[in-house]
Amino acid sequence: MIFRPDHKFTHGAETSKMQIEGLNVHIAGQHILKEVNLIIPDKRITCVIGPSGCGKSTLLRSMNRLIDSVEGAHIEGKILIGEVNLIDSGEHLTELRRRIGLVSQKPCPLPMSIFENVAYGCQIHGIRNRRKLKMVVRHYLEAVGLWDEVCERLNAPATSLSLGQQQRLCLARSLAVEPQFILADEATSALDPIASRNVEELFVKLKNDYSIIMVTHTLRQARRIADYVVFMYLGELVEAGLASEVFDNPQHELTKKYLSGAFS
Ligand SMILES: Nc1ncnc2c1ncn2[C@@H]1O[C@H](COP(=O)(O)OP(=O)(O)O)[C@@H](O)[C@H]1O
Ligand SMILES: [Mg+2]
Repeated sequence: MIFRPDHKFTHGAETSKMQIEGLNVHIAGQHILKEVNLIIPDKRITCVIGPSGCGKSTLLRSMNRLIDSVEGAHIEGKILIGEVNLIDSGEHLTELRRRIGLVSQKPCPLPMSIFENVAYGCQIHGIRNRRKLKMVVRHYLEAVGLWDEVCERLNAPATSLSLGQQQRLCLARSLAVEPQFILADEATSALDPIASRNVEELFVKLKNDYSIIMVTHTLRQARRIADYVVFMYLGELVEAGLASEVFDNPQHELTKKYLSGAFS
């Protein structure tokens, strides 16, 4: 499905899994992520689960260095893609975030038209030719199943769409810059059940082309779509593995309790 309007956008050798080693994050003197070690497989859905406040969002924010803009945050360790450590690579943040897209809980379309929202990322990354832009915008709106719904009103403001449509638009905007990883932080929690299922199914389709790391707000969702599961508790990674193994045969006492609903 990946559409390469310009050879500059190919990933080349960078298509490899993400490897996290000895990741520690402190915020304002508090130890928020504690010695996290984890391998994120390529082109799979990895769901991060755990009670509120255990550090799921902080983990995602570390992966695209959004943590840099959190006041009082200090990060140590390695987040490797191939040989490159994202934490001290010196790579420009714009380029890093192109490769590692983030979709957040509430859809946040830019205050522009539907068309411009998708075109925006491409323009930043150098595509200015109008005809090419139109092709790219259509391609990504199709990829998120939105084209048929919006093709008659591409110049309408993005905010005129329903929440579910806005979330798919935001996803199209992230895809338009051709990331390798997609981080999704409770990306369906603000949506009604039908829109939520649509977006969920979209992620399942997208894993053919992207590595997806998803914080899920419901265990049921993780059970439906996860290939791999990571369970966190109080800033520590307690257990990680194939979804079937973690769900059906959890090794750690805390994981068993969490999955049985003893706490949430
Ligand atoms: N900007 C911040 N300033 C201070 N503490 C923070 C900040 N962001 C997160 N935390 C703390 O870090 C811990 C983990 O938060 P978070 O990663 O948002 O958890 P989760 O997404 O699992 O609910 C919580 O105790 C939270 O209060
Ligand atoms: Mg969170």
